[in-house]
Amino acid sequence: MKPVRIGICGLGTVASGTVNILTRNCAEITGRAGCDVIIEHIGARRDNPLCDTTGYKVSRDIFAVVDDPNVDVVVELIGGYDVAKDLVLKAIANGKHVVTANKALIAVHGNEIFAAAKAQGVSVCYEAAVAGGIPIIKAVREGLAANRVEWLAGIINGTGNFILTEMRDKGRAFDDVLKEAQALGYAEADPTFDVEGIDAAHKLAILASIAFGIPLQFDKAYTEGIAEVSTVDVEFAEELGYRIKHLGIARRQGAGVELRVHPTLIPEKSLIANVHGVMNAVMVQGDAVGTTLYYGAGAGAEPTASAVVADLVDLARGLDGDAEHRVAALGFHADKLNDLPI
Ligand code: HSE
Repeated sequence: MKPVRIGICGLGTVASGTVNILTRNCAEITGRAGCDVIIEHIGARRDNPLCDTTGYKVSRDIFAVVDDPNVDVVVELIGGYDVAKDLVLKAIANGKHVVTANKALIAVHGNEIFAAAKAQGVSVCYEAAVAGGIPIIKAVREGLAANRVEWLAGIINGTGNFILTEMRDKGRAFDDVLKEAQALGYAEADPTFDVEGIDAAHKLAILASIAFGIPLQFDKAYTEGIAEVSTVDVEFAEELGYRIKHLGIARRQGAGVELRVHPTLIPEKSLIANVHGVMNAVMVQGDAVGTTLYYGAGAGAEPTASAVVADLVDLARGLDGDAEHRVAALGFHADKLNDLPI
């Protein structure tokens, strides 16, 4: 089978992890994909020392990657809304499949992007956009396909959980732990997205769209972060037998779906209360299966890149299939969903 040739846009934390995994686990990935997955071109906007050491074709103009006729799949890892949106729409217009880890992009512009992808018969895959290395999108979309989902709830921001854990376990100050989360590559480029709950709201909107079959409606989510949580709050919660966890919650409410992210008091013996550090955990309640739980690293280079590469393998497997089916399986058909009020 012909190789799948990928173009990676961005060369930050997740992109470096993606290059590492594709190189280190080449044999496993080729076996599972049924063909070679080759890095054809990398676009990195800033001066990045890695640009000179990757050994791959590197362009400073990221749009050179989406215009490269040798690239079959564009991997968007630059983050942010505007340039990323232009890049992804250009890739789609050029007939290329897209893999992205960009939750902000999918949550805010996903409906438009999926419609463009459908019109072009290409796929947009975004497993890495929610809960890092946990394959939660595949679990909800495919593993729970038989169920009417009643609710889902979980810790979906690794930086926030890392901060709350360090405050509780070591009494560390909020700002000090946030700095460490940035140094470890967990936090967003703008860390207010982590601490104000915006990143979690992006992810919740994406999960809810899949679980409940509703369009992406990030702007309708009640959004509160952990910025106001103090060490004293954490200590009082502990004394009362609770832990403070920042949760994203989506549940059916009347004819609609309620979306909310906020700090929550959780009894200390419950599973979610014992999810520490950068780990994420998502509970999903389906009418047939009951309650299910998914756990794993929610941020960081290789956990997130693990999900990026899984999407590449999925795409590679489907590339000799029929385009319409691929879009239905991997993307999101806004026009076929019930527009439930939120
Ligand atoms: N800043 C995000 C987090 C990265 O901490 O969860 C992974 O989406």
